[in-house]
Amino acid sequence: MNFSSRMSRKLRPTIKVSSVNESLSKSNVKYIQLNTYSSTTVKPVSITNDKNPKAKNTQWFYNQSAIDIAAAKPSVRLTPATLLYAGKSADGSHLLRSAQYLHKELPVRIAHRIAGFRSLPFIVGCNPTILAVHELYIKAYYTACESCAITDLDSEQKYAKMLHQLLNDHKDVVTQLAEGFRECRKHILNEDMVRSFLDRTLTSRLGMRILAEHHIALHDERPNYVGVINVGMKPKDLIEKWCQFVKNLSELKYGKSPQFKLNGHINASFPYIETPLDYILPELLKNAVRATVEAHFDSPSLPPITITVANNDVDFIIRVSDRGGGIPHHMINLVTQYHYSSKNMNVDQRVEGGLLGSMIDESNNASSMHGFGFGLPTSRAYAEYLGGSLTLQSIQGIGTDVYLRLKHIDGKHESFRI
Ligand SMILES: Nc1ncnc2c1ncn2[C@@H]1O[C@H](COP(=O)(O)OP(=O)(O)O)[C@@H](O)[C@H]1O
Ligand SMILES: [Mg+2]
Repeated sequence: MNFSSRMSRKLRPTIKVSSVNESLSKSNVKYIQLNTYSSTTVKPVSITNDKNPKAKNTQWFYNQSAIDIAAAKPSVRLTPATLLYAGKSADGSHLLRSAQYLHKELPVRIAHRIAGFRSLPFIVGCNPTILAVHELYIKAYYTACESCAITDLDSEQKYAKMLHQLLNDHKDVVTQLAEGFRECRKHILNEDMVRSFLDRTLTSRLGMRILAEHHIALHDERPNYVGVINVGMKPKDLIEKWCQFVKNLSELKYGKSPQFKLNGHINASFPYIETPLDYILPELLKNAVRATVEAHFDSPSLPPITITVANNDVDFIIRVSDRGGGIPHHMINLVTQYHYSSKNMNVDQRVEGGLLGSMIDESNNASSMHGFGFGLPTSRAYAEYLGGSLTLQSIQGIGTDVYLRLKHIDGKHESFRI
């Protein structure tokens, strides 16, 4: 029985709806304490937290008819070309149109995600970290709904500010979900359920973030940009930026780094959205660097990592080739699963950077060489959401080639929708 139905069967009959906002603003879920109640003497489930041990009423987790109604509505997804060619008017009407679309659309998308949390198995949905993210989505739903109608540029400004706040509130959701699902691994009987929940939650989050960032960016006068779309994106520039980032990280962690070589269509430029590439590229490069350093730790030099860009009418491809020994046969089908990581399999303290290495990893997960085993599965889910793919070819004993293939967004061919 899932989270939602089990909660509602026990508790719905005598629910008294208290102020949603009050519960939302005060709540800071640390753990959920479940008691068994008879159906006649129903008491609310309580959540306590360290700072405020007073039990709080959590009726709003399941008694959300407005969310149920919104979750039943279809989402209206846009092609990137619609964003690109929406036009810009001197009177700011393009800002009003964009905000009015989001004002209607975001609550529906957030409600779909809340429905996803509710359909998790009961024991998984009760995990405190997952519950905290669920709560964040409920809070976001009300924040997005309660913002006033967009009738003029003043209300639009307020709306953009609210979007900014939401983006900030949700910035750690991927790490939180990774932690939450790791914590409740022993309760997960159906891996496919977790995979499809994470694929949908993470890609839908990517879509919402692109749309929100796009709206905010429409206010800026950046040459070459329409909102978040870089009309002349050069993959080379982005790749070089992330190579430098990963190189610094590698030098900090291992005291050395392989060189990066770029070839192929290095002068290619076309319209694209950098947001997903800013996630995927560092993940692929970190994996390649880590494999290279680990496989050649005692050698005086490290083989370079080669990045090839290929551009054509339909899509563009970025291939990352390393000579890090490849992915062993028994792991090749596992590495694109959430939470699969060889992080703890490495016994060589020098490779792991000893105490310093583990301190760096613990304190700043986003910039560690490896994490929760989320890099490849999340990158693959993002690539597929954007009409592309992520595939791996391993030559065991030599190295790995990762192919990231992404569709163009110029509207000349059939496109994905955000
Ligand atoms: N280029 C590569 N060469 C060898 N092994 C790799 C490579 N890329 C990924 N892997 C393996 O796949 C696992 C999962 O990668 P990933 O999803 O990025 O998670 P993480 O880096 O957090 O472990 C890694 O732990 C590593 O064992
Ligand atoms: Mg990784």
